[in-house]
Amino acid sequence: MGRVIGIDLGTTYCAMAALNDAGVPDIVPNREGERITPSVVLFQGDIAIVGSQAKRSAASAPEDTVQFVKRHMGEKSIVYTTEAGKDLRPEEISALILKRLKEDAELHFGEPVDRAVITVPAYFDDARRTATRDAGTIAGLEVLRVLNEPTAAAIAYGLRHADAGVFLVYDLGGGTFDVTVMRSAGDELEVLATAGDRNLGGYDWDNRLMKHVDAEIVAAGGASVLAGDEARIAELRDKAEIAKRTLSTSEQCSIVLSVDGAHHHVKVTRETFERMTSSLLGRTESLARQVVEEARLSWAQIDRTLLVGGSTRMPMVTRLLESMSGRPAERGVAQDEVVAMGAAILAAAENSAAPDALAQVTGGALTAVRDVTSQSLGVEVLADGERVENSVIVPRNSRLPCGVAKKYATMYHDQRGILLKVTEGEDTDMAYVNVIGQSEIRIPVAGLPEGHPVEVRLSYDIDAIIHVQVTDGQTGQHWGEFEIERVANMDGGQLRAAGDRLRAAEVI
Ligand SMILES: Nc1ncnc2c1ncn2[C@@H]1O[C@H](COP(=O)(O)OP(=O)(O)OP(=O)(O)O)[C@@H](O)[C@H]1O
Ligand SMILES: [Mg+2]
Repeated sequence: MGRVIGIDLGTTYCAMAALNDAGVPDIVPNREGERITPSVVLFQGDIAIVGSQAKRSAASAPEDTVQFVKRHMGEKSIVYTTEAGKDLRPEEISALILKRLKEDAELHFGEPVDRAVITVPAYFDDARRTATRDAGTIAGLEVLRVLNEPTAAAIAYGLRHADAGVFLVYDLGGGTFDVTVMRSAGDELEVLATAGDRNLGGYDWDNRLMKHVDAEIVAAGGASVLAGDEARIAELRDKAEIAKRTLSTSEQCSIVLSVDGAHHHVKVTRETFERMTSSLLGRTESLARQVVEEARLSWAQIDRTLLVGGSTRMPMVTRLLESMSGRPAERGVAQDEVVAMGAAILAAAENSAAPDALAQVTGGALTAVRDVTSQSLGVEVLADGERVENSVIVPRNSRLPCGVAKKYATMYHDQRGILLKVTEGEDTDMAYVNVIGQSEIRIPVAGLPEGHPVEVRLSYDIDAIIHVQVTDGQTGQHWGEFEIERVANMDGGQLRAAGDRLRAAEVI
């Protein structure tokens, strides 16, 4: 039996951790000795280079570099075409990163690593979770759980602070934002509510700064970098990110770029930077307020605020949280490592056959972790016989695992089939929700009258993966059951083929 690890598969950086002999999670360094690995892949012919070396080349070889792929997880898109003409999907790029991490861990431990818990933003929907699980499978890992990042952070944090109370996890990473309210009651950790934005992170702060610097260059009579070639844009992105980090500790900094032989020196103060990004921070603020409201709490009832994600190093974030909560915000553990540490704890527990595995792994500090759904689940219905709308069956922030049944009715006499469209989202308007899958259910009984009750049961398993069941609402007869045929994900054959290709691929 090989080892198990916890992996934080981030938009910009990945971290992995495993329990040490003392049962405490430790970061597993990569082969270069780094505690975090940039989520960047550089293709050189048939070889995929992952990590810092790829990140360093991003500016000089942007067309052979793939970054921020997590933003595309769950999309049926092609993010890169290899020299040999092979189209790669987001889960295949993620699999390359995971393969590199797996091999680094094997090098570190000197033994096979074949099972892992991989984390995802709580706000990831079903397609994105499935794509993440698939990426692990392609990379040759058995994915024990797809775990929510804020929950992972809370597990790692909860291990050190066993006191009861309500806390808010504010996770602003490179590409996604998650805000979660949790309650710890002694040895139980319960998610009360979660919200977030899967397209909001440090990357967007970088974009604002890039635009600003570009505008300054143009104002000074220079040529626009953003209108230029990819290599220049990548260089500007690099420099903007470095400047942003500098502004977390310094009041000002400058960015130097040479465009068409002319050197440009753009000075940026923290104040200017905060002003140009205030609307981004504002989005995190309204989501944080929303989640506290959804947990039916007031800010006075939040005992502690926990900062997770590299972007919470920006002073504007700390200020915002302190002004909302009226309390100092805490950085319990290194904020870019805490998610991987929590994943490592759960991986060890999942790997144990003992019924009280989590308690054993955590020395009794935690016996149970309860999570909630981050998306409402429903079906498309015909309301009042005329309007097509979304009918929510499982409301968001329901405790996992969960199943809810709701009764509908047949539309006409002797109806013999139902086209069931399963949706994700809150709105009744179909335009604002996602149809995540559909299936034709046959009604095995003839001659049922119009308005005959039909029960649809939607359930989420512990990984928030969705199952659908349809029964006769009167007799309880089973009419059909399916796991959603996900429009956006790979099928079994595609997955196997991708796995075979990856086994043969060289990843360094
Ligand atoms: N000192 C700093 N000041 C400002 N931003 C920082 C600092 N250090 C790191 N960051 C930013 O943090 C982000 C990376 O954070 P983290 O590693 O938590 O993200 P991630 O896990 O890759 O992303 P996600 O969780 O969104 O998938 C990057 O945008 C990076 O620029
Ligand atoms: Mg993260």
